Amino acid sequence: MTSAPTASVRTDDLLERHGEHVMQTYGEPTQVFVRGDGVALFDAEGRPYLDFLCGLAVTSLGHAHPAVTAAVSHQAATLVHTSNLFVTPPAVELAARLARITGWADARTFFANCGATANEAALKLARRHGKRQRAGKVRVVTLEGSFHGRTFATLEATGQPAKHAPFEPLLGVVDTVPYDDADALRAAVTDDTCAVLLECIQGEGGVRPVPDDVLVAAREACDAAGALLIIDEVQTGIGRTGPWFAFQDTPVVPDVITVAKALANGLPIGACIARGAAATALERGEHASTFGGNPVVCAAANAVLDTIERHDLLAHGARLSAAIVAGIEDLAATVPLVRGVRGRGLLLGMELASPVAAAVASACSERFLLVNAVAPDVLRLAPPLVATEQDVALALAALRESLTAVAGATTEETP
Ligand SMILES: Cc1ncc(COP(=O)(O)O)c(C=O)c1O
Repeated sequence: MTSAPTASVRTDDLLERHGEHVMQTYGEPTQVFVRGDGVALFDAEGRPYLDFLCGLAVTSLGHAHPAVTAAVSHQAATLVHTSNLFVTPPAVELAARLARITGWADARTFFANCGATANEAALKLARRHGKRQRAGKVRVVTLEGSFHGRTFATLEATGQPAKHAPFEPLLGVVDTVPYDDADALRAAVTDDTCAVLLECIQGEGGVRPVPDDVLVAAREACDAAGALLIIDEVQTGIGRTGPWFAFQDTPVVPDVITVAKALANGLPIGACIARGAAATALERGEHASTFGGNPVVCAAANAVLDTIERHDLLAHGARLSAAIVAGIEDLAATVPLVRGVRGRGLLLGMELASPVAAAVASACSERFLLVNAVAPDVLRLAPPLVATEQDVALALAALRESLTAVAGATTEETP
């Protein structure tokens, strides 16, 4: 894969203009990408990078997938927007498909625009469900280390106090318990609880699987208290961890799931999917979004789901996962810096013996492999479902070189 080089001054120029005109809310960027094709992202100099990060677990079909491009182009030329005063075919088709892949015949979807707004919808839905039982039934239980978004409600539900501090006071309705303590969770769910919100694998929290006994405790406590179990599948959904949704690999069935990231392979979408009584908890006029269910975005999502099914990409992802896990276990046996691997499917965390994940990620980038440090000592790998075994071999070789380089540099620094 090659690309005509664009002007070589463009990277510096763009970074400078970004610094001048874009709010500086993210870490300081050092790289510019101008094009994508399959597993590759191309920088302004036309150099291809193996993208094993997928824009934070989003582009699961790779970049510029022809089926998505065709669906978006066709829909953009047909009908782009109507608002939710009217019904359009792609949104209805998508909602029906989501009901099928959740396995919930009575599922209903609210379409949002991203993960946070999908969770915001779920939290509002849970509050309505709670308040119908009792006025004070408005509290939410979440887990330490979770990440659910950056709106005020989802920020409070995010179990990372450092992210709260600049914005306090928050709503004051969230109770947070350790991610691996079933008894603490049971004790936190009271008559005032309207929902438990959690991820099966904490993505931003360091690719940390939540133990099954905590999930079971959450389900049982919700049933006993008349609360809803909401599973945030924003990062884990759409085949990222193996099945369509991570909960499908666990002993529990939630009342509500939220999905975003990979659903439209990079176009902005969020979905709050509910079953049973939760599916009708929000009534007419109680929630809305101008862009939710946008026809272009929903056409992209329909193409994503269709492509995954047509090419049996969930099974392919499982094979890739096994190859990566075996490769990391081999690294762990031979490179002292590597402790092991956690996560499932293609949401994997390489555990390091010291807090050098950022250095390893940048060494990988120098070797044209994109991964990221999701915790000081954990490197996240989230390759696309369309990667090949050869891509995996290339990535493992780049990882080995990067780890060796960082280990060498660390040893040199040690007096
Ligand atoms: C599990 C989870 N929930 C919610 C969000 C928020 O999604 P968004 O950034 O699309 O609002 C994220 C983003 O990383 C996430 O990983």
